[in-house]
Amino acid sequence: MAAQGHAPGKIILLGEHAVVYGRPALAIPLHDLQATARIEEAKPGQGLVIEAQDLKQRFTLQDSSSDEPLAVAARLTLNHLKVDEPDATLLVTSNIPVASGLGSGAAVTTALARALAAFFEQAIPQDELSVLVYEVEKIHHGTPSGIDNTVVVSGQPVYFKRRESDLPLIETFHAGAPLHLLIADTGVASPTKIAVGDVRRRWQADPTTYNLVFDQIGRIVERGRQAIEDGAVHPLGPLMNQNQELLRKLGVSSTEIDSLVEAALSSGASGAKLSGGGRGGNVVVLIDPKTRQQVMTALDAAGATRLLEVTLHPT
Ligand code: PMV
Repeated sequence: MAAQGHAPGKIILLGEHAVVYGRPALAIPLHDLQATARIEEAKPGQGLVIEAQDLKQRFTLQDSSSDEPLAVAARLTLNHLKVDEPDATLLVTSNIPVASGLGSGAAVTTALARALAAFFEQAIPQDELSVLVYEVEKIHHGTPSGIDNTVVVSGQPVYFKRRESDLPLIETFHAGAPLHLLIADTGVASPTKIAVGDVRRRWQADPTTYNLVFDQIGRIVERGRQAIEDGAVHPLGPLMNQNQELLRKLGVSSTEIDSLVEAALSSGASGAKLSGGGRGGNVVVLIDPKTRQQVMTALDAAGATRLLEVTLHPT
């Protein structure tokens, strides 16, 4: 018996960090980036062996520590499926860069849970899988908003808003016209947990100022969603730039991010901002196909270590 599970990466278009504080955010899946988990039956008595070659890890579920994300993901999934640990080997691979704001952690957990479910000829409903992935995200993030697991599990563009005493508001949004994006990697790995913790400390020290910044980001997200859905791409670039300014105020930009943003804007892109936790990771750039090549050249010259082209098509 063998089975597989897959999940895409993701990128946040607008609203990161403020989304942790109940403001909305927009994210889209990146189907060109994928995490895959394959599980195969093994000899009796082996237990579950988990192998993640990219992370240079191989361990048995029984010997794994209680804060190892892959092991936590496997335990939660087996509990959810109401099955015992199988004698099997689970191989996890992913071409999603880690610690760079592209949803690697959520995708790996999702792929692993889907593979285990398929192995036991079960399927986990999307909303339940999302809750399970959220539990594992807490290990990576500390206080995650829930946007990563939502977009990675659904595989759809998502408008996401956390609510105090209710489930989050989750809506799918559609592009009214093609949205051409470049995703440029600073090459700096930056754990989200640290950036999120630093923003929290600033907010605790001066809630009035930071609540205002979060409110401003929230309004940008609402206007951005409207622009995307109307197929009016022009307002979106300036909105991304305003969002980047506010992220700078939150202290989550960096020299590398600023130089990629500057290179993109001065070579013809209409908008550019960090995406995800910041301090490193990726920059998302809005381009016109006419200036695509020159923006790519400028990003390359400014030190981008990887460029990914993504188009959000109208549906
Ligand atoms: O996983 P990342 O780096 O894309 O970060 C998620 C975005 C944050 O808003 C910074 C945190 C969160 O949980 O929403």
